[in-house]
Amino acid sequence: MNNAVIINEVGPRDGLQNQRIPVSCDDKLRLIQALVDAGLRSIEATSFVSPKAVPQMADADELFVRLPAPDRVAYSALVPNVRGLERARACGVHEIAVVLSATETMNQRNINMGLIQATEVCAQTMDVAIKAGLRGKAYVAVAFECPFEGLVPLDRVLSLVRSMFAAGAAEVVIADTIGAAAPRAVSTLLQQAVAEFGAARLSVHLHDTRGFALANAWAAIEAGIRKFDTSLGGLGGCPFAPGAAGNLATEDLVQMAAQCGLSTGIDMAALRQAIALAQTLTQRPLGGRITAWLGIGDTYRARAVQ
Ligand code: COA
Ligand code: ZN
Repeated sequence: MNNAVIINEVGPRDGLQNQRIPVSCDDKLRLIQALVDAGLRSIEATSFVSPKAVPQMADADELFVRLPAPDRVAYSALVPNVRGLERARACGVHEIAVVLSATETMNQRNINMGLIQATEVCAQTMDVAIKAGLRGKAYVAVAFECPFEGLVPLDRVLSLVRSMFAAGAAEVVIADTIGAAAPRAVSTLLQQAVAEFGAARLSVHLHDTRGFALANAWAAIEAGIRKFDTSLGGLGGCPFAPGAAGNLATEDLVQMAAQCGLSTGIDMAALRQAIALAQTLTQRPLGGRITAWLGIGDTYRARAVQ
């Protein structure tokens, strides 16, 4: 068994994009520095999307060129179209992610295109990115349930994953965007996806809306997945997907992995400092399922991630 779990921290993008309080570019950089200090080495830093659609990400161009430790950290950015890709390239981005939602309505709400057009735009953006020497990643969003259309057929999800690999994606991220999946559905989909595409090219993005994110992460681990998107303190949620509460919290996965003999390379004490900073910046309480346990006193806290 592969004992290393790779965490791709999405707090600076998925986490911040939906926050009511604007976070300045300087503060975002402080937060990213705190994440780097905690050992995160794969970070989705921002998105090059329309500033009208997501005002919180309007500073992407300024932020990307100022990111800390670019030689040690694999930073990626989300791009919705070739326009976003060109902005990203101009800032020296090496890895982009496109987002293809698995339903007609979700694509309409998120990027103002239907499923067929969204698939074409994602494939075209991927193609241009790869020809420019970038690494391309594709999200298949609402892969289990859509807030508008309900349960999503498994065959459609697999077919979209297939089309993104055919377009040249190095990695496909299967996303439970609204946190509606339960472990059995995660097992079923991921076992089939791993059998067809191989675990090394797949990762998983979970939300904790119903409290199942860790259980779903374990189902994914048992299916062979070793790479996860997480967000510090569970910060996050898609502004265009009603009911999408916070992401799987980075600290929850770090702790569960540690207790299951899987390494993440994350320092829990430093991660807690990053979470404290995120709370200050967003002016809201944060924390995953282990918050109470982590907070019950130094004697117990010292046991975290041994
Ligand atoms: N970066 C910056 N501006 C962009 C852009 C990009 N990547 N793509 C388009 N725009 C601008 C256009 O120039 C235009 O500006 P104008 O109104 O000043 O002329 C405006 O955005 C609308 O462009 P248009 O091509 O008509 O697109 P649209 O209104 O149909 O919006 C998207 C499509 C994809 C650009 C927009 O829906 C979007 O950015 N969505 C992102 C959603 C997101 O981040 N979701 C969360 C993550 S999954
Ligand atoms: Zn998300």
